[in-house]
Amino acid sequence: MTQDQLKQAVAQAAVDHIVPKLTDRSIVGVGTGSTANFFIDLLARHKGFFDGAVASSEATAERLKGHGIPVYDLNSVSELEFYVDGADEANKHLELIKGGGAALTREKIVAAVAKTFICIADASKLVEQLGSFPLPVEVIPMARSHVARELVKLGGDPVYRDGVVTDNGNVILDVHNLLIGFAPELEAQINNIVGVVSNGLFAMRPADLLLLGTKDGVQMLER
Ligand code: 5RP
Repeated sequence: MTQDQLKQAVAQAAVDHIVPKLTDRSIVGVGTGSTANFFIDLLARHKGFFDGAVASSEATAERLKGHGIPVYDLNSVSELEFYVDGADEANKHLELIKGGGAALTREKIVAAVAKTFICIADASKLVEQLGSFPLPVEVIPMARSHVARELVKLGGDPVYRDGVVTDNGNVILDVHNLLIGFAPELEAQINNIVGVVSNGLFAMRPADLLLLGTKDGVQMLER
């Protein structure tokens, strides 16, 4: 199976998992990236059975609207049963690195609101140790050099993601070679650097369910 076929299989598994639990009042939180795109396309087949969605990026909002799925502002939504999104890395504790698509801040906000965060990923994303994938950090533009110096003090090698501006008007530093010991602590430590908006460690609020596409089928890991 190709990586795209594995992504499609987990996207279908997520649809199969949530659709029976949705009502005509349900609003679904939707992530960003190629795996999330498969999920959107498959979810669209059931669009009459739920109210709409909250998007974690402008790109996702456009794709949802393209399918005729109503997109709500998170501020107008009081309850979100599910948030479904991909990841760049996941460990067996369901801690994640996200932000390869630069949407980490909005993804983290929607994940924080959702009751159940379902991560969908192909098997290549499951790792023993987080950190081979450079950790994305969203930074207020004027603080870029300051934040980079502070990240070096934490042992990382930050690289400016040239030409990328987030949906929030900020820049991304990708931090290579970070030793990620206790992920929730490092997540908080990086968030505490003045000028950081958020970072791509999802450890204080990990996923609740990881659907992993393998050549032997979809595996389900629960927290
Ligand atoms: C975007 C993300 C994505 O979930 C992550 O990059 C995985 O993307 P893909 O599903 O394309 O492999 O965090 O900011």
